[in-house]
Amino acid sequence: MTLGSARSNASNQPKMVDYSGVKLNVSRETDVAAISPLDNDFDDSSPIASQLVNETKRRERLLGRKLPKPGRTRILTVANQKGGVGKTTTTVNMAAALASAGLQVLVIDIDPQGNASTALGVPHHADVDSIYDVLINDVSMAEVIAECPDIDNLYCAPATIHLAGAEIELVSLVAREQRLRRAIDEYVKFRANNGQERLDFIFIDCPPSLGLLTVNAFCAANEVMIPIQCEYYALEGLSQLLKNIEMIQKHLNSDLVVSTILLTMYDGRTNLAAHVAADVREHFPQQVLQALIPRSVRISEAPSYQQTVMTYDPSSTGALSYLEAAAELAERSIP
Ligand SMILES: Nc1ncnc2c1ncn2[C@@H]1O[C@H](COP(=O)(O)OP(=O)(O)OP(=O)(O)O)[C@@H](O)[C@H]1O
Ligand SMILES: [Mg+2]
Repeated sequence: MTLGSARSNASNQPKMVDYSGVKLNVSRETDVAAISPLDNDFDDSSPIASQLVNETKRRERLLGRKLPKPGRTRILTVANQKGGVGKTTTTVNMAAALASAGLQVLVIDIDPQGNASTALGVPHHADVDSIYDVLINDVSMAEVIAECPDIDNLYCAPATIHLAGAEIELVSLVAREQRLRRAIDEYVKFRANNGQERLDFIFIDCPPSLGLLTVNAFCAANEVMIPIQCEYYALEGLSQLLKNIEMIQKHLNSDLVVSTILLTMYDGRTNLAAHVAADVREHFPQQVLQALIPRSVRISEAPSYQQTVMTYDPSSTGALSYLEAAAELAERSIP
């Protein structure tokens, strides 16, 4: 399969999440993709028209592009201790984009909020066996992994609310920092022994903290991907995150590298977003992806329908941007 061929849930029958009876009344973004640039009286001098032309060109560049399978399973921890910067959104949409291109992708949700599990449509109520059981009760990863209902080749190890206690429970366990790594190693062997295809990417969605759950993710991964929100406080806290990663490299996982930084929630109408983006690119020229994720209503709506934006609205700018980011990630050489 090639990029951009995710199965669209085009019927758009929303799978509303049951927020204790509260139904979300979500707004609808202007569907620019619905307006064809080929219409007769098309005037490409207006901002919306030039945006359309630009998006059409970007889409053409992606269409039918084959993504290479990496030489080994790439394990990326998506981390930033700052909350709400787009970790989960980036995890699930990058994973969905890569899986829709035919790669084998696993998302491990180690955030007690379970947001990645929600967005991927995987059950994660308190009775479900989850990554908590893997970390604390030595349950195998194979027993908790579920297939995502909307996208082929995409799997998720869900998080349940029990994970909220895991930070404390882990403290007294043997090899407390390495438990996720061991579980992943076992699962990789399990797949090989059972004739299942090798995983191409594993994404680990971290909570907004630098506690033992995040340390487990750092120990299990080869790469760190840091989403940075294009807002004023974006770089605050980043030095703390990088210091922690250095400590991990020194003492627990010498293979770990910060390979990827993704700029998220970019608002092209503000000078501030442009300044932050330029600043981050200047500091981390090797790591920052060229692709930029815009602030988009469609991206924020998707999780309330238990979907990624790839299936919720594949023709949106948000989906296009995540496809570009995923292609760039896959085509970069493995660090
Ligand atoms: N590009 C975007 N445009 C608009 N809204 C977005 C975008 N990316 C994320 N959001 C919204 O911003 C909020 C925070 O995003 P997300 O949950 O991905 O961040 P997070 O870093 O995982 O948060 P936490 O630290 O709580 O785990 C969510 O409501 C999400 O839908
Ligand atoms: Mg999150």
